[in-house]
Amino acid sequence: MSKVALVTGGSRGIGAAISKALKDAGYTVAANYAGNDDAAAAFTEETGIKTYKWSVADYDACAEGIKKVEEELGPIAVLVNNAGITRDSMFHKMTAQQWKEVIDTNLTGLFNMTHPVWNGMRDRKFGRIVNISSVNGQKGQAGQANYSAAKAGDIGFTRALAQEGARAGITVNAIAPGYIGTEMVRAIDEKVLNERIIPQIPVGRLGEPEEIARAVVFLASDEAGFITGSTISANGGQFFG
Ligand code: CAA
Repeated sequence: MSKVALVTGGSRGIGAAISKALKDAGYTVAANYAGNDDAAAAFTEETGIKTYKWSVADYDACAEGIKKVEEELGPIAVLVNNAGITRDSMFHKMTAQQWKEVIDTNLTGLFNMTHPVWNGMRDRKFGRIVNISSVNGQKGQAGQANYSAAKAGDIGFTRALAQEGARAGITVNAIAPGYIGTEMVRAIDEKVLNERIIPQIPVGRLGEPEEIARAVVFLASDEAGFITGSTISANGGQFFG
């Protein structure tokens, strides 16, 4: 029986590449998504990967969704907390709503998803949690006080939980991608992207989603059992965190 992997935000952007790479590596993959039904349907059509709709910002929805995935596919061995949103704004213009939405999804979402799978992983003495943080959680980014705070929080969460999971065969790691060529990054004003951001990336280009997916497959593998609490930076040399 192949292991089951659940990827949040798994039908678009970096998450879609992660879902596909895990499937190619032999996992039975469930891709969670929050809103875009058309993209999810197209993704299933293209890949054969089942999609499940709920918001990671809602604890009860996560618990219910995870139960459904486990009933249909089997116990979750690998959880990839990838779902994330941006509500960029300079701080003097940022609203409480923009702050809350990003913290609820990008930080509390990790609690909401990990808590319902944690006891099962402890009982089975095996688990792989991979949290997708960001270079901007490591270095901070003007216009992203909300996002940077949440993504830095993801790294703290990773380090704390790694210590709790270690004796139970559960590893908890983070990947901190830099600027990857997805819709999220392409939504940045072109002038800002070309004049302020890309010049700060030593390799001189945006990353590819597959370059993040490869690191997830590695951390999910049985062979990565001694790596826990780490953060892999994958950012083209932009920041050495
Ligand atoms: N540091 C310091 N000051 C800065 C700055 C920076 N990096 N960037 C902008 N400013 C200043 C500007 O110089 C300007 O100052 P003045 O008013 O004195 O001229 C002021 O801030 C306002 O700048 P903008 O005109 O750009 O303001 P805006 O309201 O039109 O746009 C913004 C603000 C939406 C945040 C825009 O600057 C932006 O999109 N920045 C990029 C943010 C970013 O990197 N987001 C990443 C999204 S992708 C992602 O999150 C994935 C991932 O993990 C990497």
